[in-house]
Amino acid sequence: MAARESFYIATPIFYVNDVPHIGHAYTEVAADVLARWHRQAGDDTWLLTGTDEHGQKILRTAVANDTTPKAWADRLVADAWQPLLKTINISNDDFIRTTDERHEYAVTVFLQKLYDDGFIYSGEYEGYYCVGCEEYKQLDDLMELPSGDYAGRLLCKIHSIPVEVLKEKNYFFRMSDFQQRLLDLYESQPDFIQPESVRNEIIQFVRAGLDDLSISRSSFDWGIKIPWDDSHVLYVWFDALLNYITAVGYGTDQENFERRWPAVQLVGKDIARFHAVIWPAMLMAAGLPVPRKVFGHGWLLVGGEKMSKSKLTGIAPSEITETFGADAFRYYFMRAISFGQDGSFSWEDLSARYQAELANGFGNLASRVIAMVSRYRDGVIPDPGAFTEADEAIRVTERRATADADAAIERLAIHEALAAIWILVDELNGYITIQEPWALAKDPANAERLDTVLFTVVRGLGTLAVLLAPVIPDAAAKLWAAIGGAGDVTEQDVRAAYDWLGAPTVTALESSLFPRIEQVEPASA
Ligand code: MSP
Repeated sequence: MAARESFYIATPIFYVNDVPHIGHAYTEVAADVLARWHRQAGDDTWLLTGTDEHGQKILRTAVANDTTPKAWADRLVADAWQPLLKTINISNDDFIRTTDERHEYAVTVFLQKLYDDGFIYSGEYEGYYCVGCEEYKQLDDLMELPSGDYAGRLLCKIHSIPVEVLKEKNYFFRMSDFQQRLLDLYESQPDFIQPESVRNEIIQFVRAGLDDLSISRSSFDWGIKIPWDDSHVLYVWFDALLNYITAVGYGTDQENFERRWPAVQLVGKDIARFHAVIWPAMLMAAGLPVPRKVFGHGWLLVGGEKMSKSKLTGIAPSEITETFGADAFRYYFMRAISFGQDGSFSWEDLSARYQAELANGFGNLASRVIAMVSRYRDGVIPDPGAFTEADEAIRVTERRATADADAAIERLAIHEALAAIWILVDELNGYITIQEPWALAKDPANAERLDTVLFTVVRGLGTLAVLLAPVIPDAAAKLWAAIGGAGDVTEQDVRAAYDWLGAPTVTALESSLFPRIEQVEPASA
């Protein structure tokens, strides 16, 4: 038997200075859908997520809240970040915190190696620093506003807050040494950075020349101590990026590390540079493989702006799931936004898609089919008679939807996978309208034809349950159970979803998969 292919996927680790909003949840859901798909395809899958807890931003938040950074992080992780995973049904295999001992230890192993191998030296740095980004900025990254509280000051374009001038003795990572090797990587592995827009931007950035990177701070101490100089703590990004390898055994469990690494990395496009420039340079310096790919997804926009807590446009994921449920949350963001591009969120669009696609298109199809098998065949799924062209056409669509969705997932085009699957939803609905099982049921002479029609639509639902389980796991599991699917739907090979041949009986659904929602906007909206 061939060895199972390894599929390791990681989300960025989230800053614990604040609670999650739907922008964070978006990255989580995308990674989770890909992980569930690969798990269901039998790949040796690992989904990692976690929290980024060191650095000035967290320290300042803790101080402002009269607590220590660790106590603050513990609280946010327990009260906000771990619960987020439940709210949107994330199937992560691990959750790493940069304050975990396993992480802190392995980071020092990595640092010491780079130091011993001559990739780190000490020097002095002066520059503009944005605490929001935790990054030194070039003038190009800054702006001035003509009016308002910050008029005349230099502001970070991303956070719209003033930058600070920092001057420090620092340790530096020889990143400039890696300019050519990085350009060669982008050239020889054209899908290393996706999508194309992000790739082009990164290539341009690296071509313009790379500076060495300041990787330590001595003005505060909330971080991992530099192993050979404990008056400095490690720069938070250098610390955070290492989570992707420390979590799978770098420095502690070599066998597991080799089994998992390298990973596919999903990140927002705002942090693609860290992942596609600094991170591979760090790995190259340590002689380790670079990520399989870095995919920079777009932003969720609210009112035309990147949604963010600091700009007060943040929407908590639970505001949506309390009304629509986790499945609808997951489906909506994966379907409505082309993965890789920005997308605007609106309550109107969400509720329109919920109603048209989930409640009417899919949910209703499931209820009607199950009700017809119960009514006309006492819940027993009939054996089919001879297949007509219309029945064969459904078979073809099942195969095509399966193959197209899998190919789309391979390209990380999650929205295209859903579009491919939805062709089957629409065709099954159209098939029922044309075949009119309710009319066939009136005349016993049509019994065999009715058997074939019912068999065909139940089999179509089986295919849908298998294909949709990675996206809407709760509804898919309910549907699978209702149509008598054997075992757990998540055990069904997603790449052979069309192979499902039917089960003996159906059981009525206790409630609609996607019940009608009368009031679509929560009171707070
Ligand atoms: N801690 C760093 C990442 C370190 S990874 C080694 C960080 N954290 S974050 O909490 O600010 O952001 C985490 C992710 O959420 C990023 O990928 C970011 O792009 C994403 N998003 C934050 N706001 C978003 C939107 N409005 N829309 C889509 N994604 C958004 O950066």
